[in-house]
Amino acid sequence: MQVLVIGANGQLGTAICDVFDDVHVLRADLDGENHLVDISQEEQVFRLILDELKPDLVINAAAAHSLPQCEKHPAHSFAVNASGPGFLATACKHAGARLVHISTDYVFGDGATRPYVEEDLPAPLSVYGASKLAGEHLVAAHCRDHVIIRTAALYGPAPCRAKGGLNFVDTMLRQAEEGAEVRVVDDEITTPTLTLALARQVRVLAEKAEPGVYHATCQGECSWHAFAEAIFEEAGVEANLIRVSCKQFQLPVRRPSYSVLDNVHARAQGLDEMPPWRDALRTFLVK
Ligand SMILES: NC(=O)c1ccc[n+]([C@@H]2O[C@H](COP(=O)([O-])OP(=O)(O)OC[C@H]3O[C@@H](n4cnc5c(N)ncnc54)[C@H](OP(=O)(O)O)[C@@H]3O)[C@@H](O)[C@H]2O)c1
Repeated sequence: MQVLVIGANGQLGTAICDVFDDVHVLRADLDGENHLVDISQEEQVFRLILDELKPDLVINAAAAHSLPQCEKHPAHSFAVNASGPGFLATACKHAGARLVHISTDYVFGDGATRPYVEEDLPAPLSVYGASKLAGEHLVAAHCRDHVIIRTAALYGPAPCRAKGGLNFVDTMLRQAEEGAEVRVVDDEITTPTLTLALARQVRVLAEKAEPGVYHATCQGECSWHAFAEAIFEEAGVEANLIRVSCKQFQLPVRRPSYSVLDNVHARAQGLDEMPPWRDALRTFLVK
């Protein structure tokens, strides 16, 4: 089996390549030493998948996901997050390949009081969320054999390319080390998700799941403040952690205050292997 991972240099893409270490993995990115492709360019996508690599499985972990940048450059955001996955889906259909596409909790809006299930109505609050939702629709429209995986709040050993390198855990530990006040919001609830755990789940879903939309985050939920508190507790680090509200920040882009996902579809097929978020954090900090 040949697996093509697009966004292979990214935070999640790196972990996905690692979990497919027993098969032939082909790697593609916008820049660097891997195969080069700009997924927003139809002819580049077709050449890579149909003429050059002919993979059996394509996993798309590429995205433009800096929220402020997406808001500033909506055309680029839709080109990469919507048109790109659409081109990948058409190419996969012609190649007879399955397409696994990574999406986000930010397709949902505000006002939820319980975790979102896959059937809940999306209502994105940002250009990023809207463009990712459009990408989901184009994937489903163009390639019947698709697996769309929505996830949230990623962190892991590889740096997040779109967010300048440091993940939330590293940022917290660095700020504590510098002795600074660590101010973290307590009114935005999510599920921190370790890339390595998600990558294993991506493989399970890629190999065993029915076509469709799947939620895949670690189990449970917490505020970013509670996550920071857990990081310091697990790492045994003293920190001057201050609870703040989103309202105290002039954020340029609206974000859902509650975007917890329930992995219902994976669970229904006996395929939900995601660990509790705090166990995953402990695993990460031990390394
Ligand atoms: N990070 C989060 O907290 C989070 C939360 C929910 C969902 N997600 C989703 O998870 C996925 C992976 O995110 P991540 O954090 O791993 O991202 P990341 O570290 O920023 O990596 C993004 C990857 O996409 C590639 N890329 C960007 N534009 C491209 C284009 N036009 N053509 C081809 N490749 C392109 C980049 O290539 P270069 O390295 O060459 O630039 C990079 O390898 C995305 O779909 C994102 O929407 C992320």
